[in-house]
Amino acid sequence: MTTADQESSFADLGEVLVIIPTYNEAENVERITARVRAAVPEAHILVADDNSPDGTGDIADKLAAADDHLHVLHRKGKEGLGAAYLAGFRWGIDHGYQVLVEMDADGSHQPEELYRLLTALRTADLVLGSRWVPGGEVVNWPRSRLLLSRGGSLYSRLMLDVPIRDVTGGYRAFRKETLLGLGMDQVASAGYCFQVDLAWRTVKAGYKVAEVPITFVERELGASKMSRSIVVEALWRVTAWGLSARLDKLLGKK
Ligand code: GDD
Ligand code: MN
Repeated sequence: MTTADQESSFADLGEVLVIIPTYNEAENVERITARVRAAVPEAHILVADDNSPDGTGDIADKLAAADDHLHVLHRKGKEGLGAAYLAGFRWGIDHGYQVLVEMDADGSHQPEELYRLLTALRTADLVLGSRWVPGGEVVNWPRSRLLLSRGGSLYSRLMLDVPIRDVTGGYRAFRKETLLGLGMDQVASAGYCFQVDLAWRTVKAGYKVAEVPITFVERELGASKMSRSIVVEALWRVTAWGLSARLDKLLGKK
C-alpha cells in the first residue's frame, strides 16, 4: 500500500463506523482495533461484544477509555454474529454514521485493505470484500474450510440467483441508506447465513453491489466460532428462501 492510499480521505462518504463483533477475542481485540486506527485514522470503531467469558469486553472498555474513536456495545450473551451486527448497525445509524463496515476481530479481514472497500463505495451501495474474484485469495485455510466456503457460496448463488461470487464473506461496507432500505427489521438469521441474507436483500432491493478482491488471512490466535449448527442454519434458510422465491415466481407474485 502506498502512503497516498493511507492518507486519502473518505470524508466525502460521511462518517465511517467499523463494527467488529467479538466473542472470546481477548488475544485479538487490541491488535485489530490498533490496525484499523492506523489504516483509516478518521474511521470510528464499534466493538460489539456478546459478554465474552474471556474478558474481551473489559479489554475493549479499557481501550475505548483512551480513544475517542473507539466505542463498545455490550450485549447480554452469545446471540450470534447476525444479531450482534444488527445491534451494531442500529447503534451506528442512531449515532449519525453514514457508512457501516463489517469486519472480523481475528485479522482475517485486513484493515490495511479497507481503503479498497471505501473507494469502491463511492460508486456502489454495498461493497463486498471478495475472496473469489480475480485478485482475491485465502491464506492458511484447510482444504475442508475452502470447500465449505466455496460450496456455500456456489449453492447460495444458484439457489438465490444472486450475481455475487463471495456471498458468505464478512468484510463489507454498507451505505446507511442501503441498510435502511433492505428491511433490517425482518432479518432473522443468527449465524453466518446473515451475510447471505443481507447480500440477497440488497440485490432484491435493487441496490448496486460491488465486489473488490481481498486477501483473507486465517486467524493465528483464538478459535473460529463456525459450528455445525451455523452450517445447518445456513443450509435450511438458503434452501427455504430459494424455494419460496421460485414458488412466488410460479404463482406470478413478485
Ligand atoms: N458478538 C458476537 N456474537 N460475535 C461473534 C459471534 C457471536 O455470536 N460469533 C462469531 N463472532 C465474531 C468472532 O468473534 C469474529 O470476530 C467474527 O465474528 C467472525 O467469527 P469467526 O469464528 O472468526 O468466523 P470464521 O473465520 O470462521 O468465518 C469467516 O468466514 C465466514 C464464511 O465466509 C467470517 O468472515 C464470517 O463472517 C463468514 O461468514
Ligand atoms: Mn475468523
